[in-house]
Amino acid sequence: MLTYTRHGLPALAALALLSGCGGDNSSPVVIDNPADLDDQLMALIAEHNLTGAPEAGRNLPDVNDPLAQLGMRLFFSKSLGGGFDSACASCHHPLLGGADGLSLPIGTGADDPDVLGLARSHPDGVPNVPRHSPTVFNAGLWDTALFWDSRVESLGGEAGANGAASGIRTPDSALFVADAEAGNTLPQAQARFPVLEDTEMKTANFENGSDASSVRAHLAARLGDYGVGAGEIADNNWLTHFQTAFASGADAETLITFDNITAAIAAYERSMVFTDTPWRDYIGGDAAAISDSAKRGAILFLTPAEENGANCIACHSGDLFSDEQAHIVAFPQFGPGKGDGATGDDDFGRERETGDARDRYRLRTPSLLNVALTAPYGHTGAYRNLTEVVRHYANPGASVNGFFGRGGWCSLPQIQGIGDCASRYPNARANSQLALATLADEQAAGRAVLRPVPLNPDEVADLVSFLEALTDRCAADPACVSTWVPAPSGAADTHQLNATF
Ligand code: HEC
Ligand code: HEC
Repeated sequence: MLTYTRHGLPALAALALLSGCGGDNSSPVVIDNPADLDDQLMALIAEHNLTGAPEAGRNLPDVNDPLAQLGMRLFFSKSLGGGFDSACASCHHPLLGGADGLSLPIGTGADDPDVLGLARSHPDGVPNVPRHSPTVFNAGLWDTALFWDSRVESLGGEAGANGAASGIRTPDSALFVADAEAGNTLPQAQARFPVLEDTEMKTANFENGSDASSVRAHLAARLGDYGVGAGEIADNNWLTHFQTAFASGADAETLITFDNITAAIAAYERSMVFTDTPWRDYIGGDAAAISDSAKRGAILFLTPAEENGANCIACHSGDLFSDEQAHIVAFPQFGPGKGDGATGDDDFGRERETGDARDRYRLRTPSLLNVALTAPYGHTGAYRNLTEVVRHYANPGASVNGFFGRGGWCSLPQIQGIGDCASRYPNARANSQLALATLADEQAAGRAVLRPVPLNPDEVADLVSFLEALTDRCAADPACVSTWVPAPSGAADTHQLNATF
C-alpha cells in the first residue's frame, strides 16, 4: 500500500529500479536500497520532532536514591494488601516488563500469592480484576493522565511535569477538580487507589465498609506499628527504612503516613526510566541499529492514512508513543467488566469518568516503549502477541471475530483449560460488537481518529519489527532490571513479595 518515495535518486536510477520491480506504475514500489529507506525515515523523524529520549529535561530520581529504595520495598510489600497477600509488584513486576504477563490480573486470594506470571492462579478459576494491568515502566514520563480511563488526571497536563504543575484530579475529587491530597505527581496520586480495591489489594474483610481515608490510615498505622495498626506486623523494621529514606529521626506516627508511603512509591516508579532502545540509537545516527523491516514498519507507523501510511502516529505520537488522549479502537471486551451496560459486564472506558456518551469505549492510548515485553495486549489482554494487535488495525471487525472464533478468552494461555471457561462472560461477544458498532458510527460521522488502514502480511510483520525495536536494553535483561527488585535480605518485615515465576 505505501509507496516509498525515492528521495535523492537520479531519474535514470529511479527508472532502472522501477523496471527492476516490474515497472508497473499502478502498484506500490518498495525500494530495497537501505539508504533510501533511511532518507525517508529520517525525514519523518524530523517532521515529528522525535528524539528517542522522552526523559530529556525531566527531573527523575535514581533507583539508588534513599526514597526510591524505600519505595521499592513498599512496592514489593504484601503488608500494603489488607490480607497480607497482594503487593503492587503482584501485578507490576520488573521481570515481567512492569506488568504481570496475564490477560486479566489476579490480585488478592491467589492460590500462592508469591507465584507470578502464567502459573499464577485463583481458586475461582477465572480472574476477578476487570482490566489488564499496564506497565509501570516510564511512569515518570506521563504528563496528562494515568489509568485506561485517565481517571487520575493532571488539570493542566504541562509537558515534562508528570502532572505536578497544576493539580491532579483523582476518583476522590470531581471531574476537573484537583484532589488536595493527590500529592505531587501522577504516580503518587495513582498509588492512593490500588489499596482500596478488594480484588486488587484490600480484600473484603479488611476495613470492611470503611471509607478510603480509614483504609489508607490503617495501612500506614500497620507499617508504623501504632494506633489501629499496632502489633499487626511481626518483625517490623519499617521505621528504620523510613528514617533512612527521609533522613529523619522522627517517630513512626510522623514519618509513616500514607502520604509518605505514596511519595516513596512514586519515587521508585519514576526511577523506572527505560528508553535506551535500538530506535533511539537509530535516531542518533546508527543506521544499522534497526533492521530494514523495522525501518519499513517505522515509515508505515509515522505516515498518515491520507498518504497510505498505517496512521499509528495519529494516536501513538511523540517519543512516549502516546498522545495521552482517549480514543476508541474497539479491542475485544471480556471479563467481569466495570458494571456498565445493560448486562453490567461492559466497560465504557472514558465515559465512566466524563459521563459523556461520546466518550464511550474510549481508552487512553498506551505507550509503546517496551511493548514487546508486556504481552498480552489491550485493556482486557485479549491479543496474545503483537501480530494479533497490528492485524486488528487492518480490520477491527475481522480481528474481533477472529478472537471469538478461536475460542475467545478460552484460547488465552492464562484461562485455557479452566473447566467451565466457555460459559463465563456470556455477553462478551455482544459487548465487543457494541464497541465495533460505536467505532463504525464514529467513523461514519468523521469523529473517530482511527482510520481504516489495509495492511498486507508483510506490512504487519514490518510494523511488528518496528515495535520490537522499542525495547530498552536493561528492561529486557533480567540481570539488569533486577536492580529494581529488592533482595530477599534486608526486607522491612516478613511480607516482602519474593516472587517465583
Ligand atoms: C491486582 C493487580 C494490581 C495491583 C495489586 C496493583 N495494580 Fe496497578 N494497575 C492494575 C490495573 C488492572 C491497572 C489499570 C486499571 C485501570 O486503568 O482501570 C493498573 C494501573 C496502574 C498504573 C497506571 C499505569 C498507566 O499507564 O496508566 C500505575 C502507575 C499502577 N497501576 C501502580 C500501582 C501501584 C503503585 C500499586 C500498589 C499500591 C498497584 N499498581 C497495585 C493492576 C494492579
Ligand atoms: C485512534 C487512536 C489509535 C491509533 C490510530 C492506533 N492506536 Fe494503537 N492503541 C490505541 C488505544 C486506545 C489502545 C488501547 C486499546 C484497548 O486496550 O482496548 C491501543 C493499543 C495498542 C497496542 C497494545 C498496547 C498494550 O500495551 O496493550 C499496540 C501494540 C498498538 N496499539 C499499536 C498500534 C499500531 C501499530 C498502530 C498503527 C497500525 C496503532 N496502534 C494505531 C490507540 C490507537
